[in-house]
Amino acid sequence: MIRLGFIGCGGIARAHLTALDRLSDRVSVAAFFDANRAQAVDLAGGRKDVVVTDQVDSLWASGLDAVLITVPNRYHAAYSEEAARRGLAIFCEKPLGVSVADATGMVAAVERASVVNLVGFKNRYFRAIETLRHVLDEQMLGPLFAYREVCSGARLANPNIGMEWRMIETIAGAGAVADFGSHSIDMALWLLVPHTGPLVSLDSRLATFITRDGSYPSNDDMAVLSGRFASGALFSVLNGRVGPGLYQVEVYGLKGRALVDMTQPDVLNLIGYGGEKITAPALPERKFEDPLLIQMARFVDAVATKTPIEPDFSTALSVQRWIEVARSSAD
Ligand SMILES: NC(=O)c1ccc[n+]([C@@H]2O[C@H](COP(=O)([O-])OP(=O)(O)OC[C@H]3O[C@@H](n4cnc5c(N)ncnc54)[C@H](O)[C@@H]3O)[C@@H](O)[C@H]2O)c1
Repeated sequence: MIRLGFIGCGGIARAHLTALDRLSDRVSVAAFFDANRAQAVDLAGGRKDVVVTDQVDSLWASGLDAVLITVPNRYHAAYSEEAARRGLAIFCEKPLGVSVADATGMVAAVERASVVNLVGFKNRYFRAIETLRHVLDEQMLGPLFAYREVCSGARLANPNIGMEWRMIETIAGAGAVADFGSHSIDMALWLLVPHTGPLVSLDSRLATFITRDGSYPSNDDMAVLSGRFASGALFSVLNGRVGPGLYQVEVYGLKGRALVDMTQPDVLNLIGYGGEKITAPALPERKFEDPLLIQMARFVDAVATKTPIEPDFSTALSVQRWIEVARSSAD
C-alpha cells in the first residue's frame, strides 16, 4: 500500500482526494498538511489514523512514499525540493513554478534524487483529446497547418470573489497565461511537436480588466498568444479568466479539421474540407473515464513500480519557458 500525503488542502486537493478514494486498494492518504489547519481538518473529514497538521515537519515524519503538492504556485518549488531530498515521489500541480528559475531548480532536484515526478496537465486524459492525439499520430489530417485553442474560466470575473492568490503576481506568477495557458501550451506541444517539430516563436498580448475595491490584480486576466512551429504550422491561443468557461481545441491539416469542445469531452469532431465527416477510430475501452482519476491512477502505478512518467517536471519546465516568453514579449 502506497502512503501519500497532501501539501495543501484546498479546492484541487479535494478533487484529487475523490479520485484517490477510488484507488483505495492501492493507496492510502496518510497525511493532510495545510498552512491553514482548518483546511487540513476539513479535507481529512474525520478520517482515522491520519496526520492532520499545519506543521510541515509532521507531514515529513509520517512515513510517506509520495506527496501531492496542491498549494499556490509560489510554494511549489520549496516543497518539491524538500520532498525530492527526502526521496519521495511527487505529483505537483501546474504551473510548475512562478518562473523558469524556480522550475529549473525543481527539475534539478527531482533528477538528482531520481524520484518519480508528474505534473497536473490533466486535460491530456479527456477521451476526445486522447483520440485526437491518435488521429494526429496516424496522420489522418495529413500535414498540419495550425493549432487553435480557447481555454478560459469565468470564476474570477465574479465580483463576489475577493482578491484571491491567483490575482497576486508574487504568489501566482502570471495570471491567465499561467493558470490556463500552462494547460494550453502543454497541449499544443504534446499534440503537435512530434509532427511539426518544436515551437520556434511566440509572442503575446496580455490585458487586465478585473478590479477589486478599486485596485487591479497584479497579473493578467486575459492573454492572446501567437506563434509558429518549425514546420511553419501556426499556434494561436486565447486564455481568459474573464470570459465564459470555454475549452476548445482545433487542429487544421491538409485533409481536414479536428475540433474538441469540452461541452462534449468524449466527442472528437473530424471534418473534411468538402464538409464530409471523417470517422475517428474507436480506441480501446479505458478502465476510468474521469481525467483526474486517470491521472492519479497513472501516478500511483508509477510510484508502485518506480517508473518514470510523463508529463514530468522537465516537460513542465519547457511550458514554463514559453510562459516566460509570452510575458516578456507582451505589449
Ligand atoms: N490541474 C488543474 O486543472 C488545476 C485546477 C485547479 C488548481 N490547480 C493548481 O493547484 C494549486 C492549488 O490551487 P487550488 O485551486 O487548490 O487553490 P486553493 O486556494 O483552493 O487551495 C490552496 C491551499 O493551499 C494552502 N496554502 C497556501 N499557502 C500555503 C503554504 N505556504 N503551505 C501550505 N499550505 C498553503 C491554503 O490554505 C489552501 O488551503 C495551484 O497551483 C493551481 O494552479 C490546478
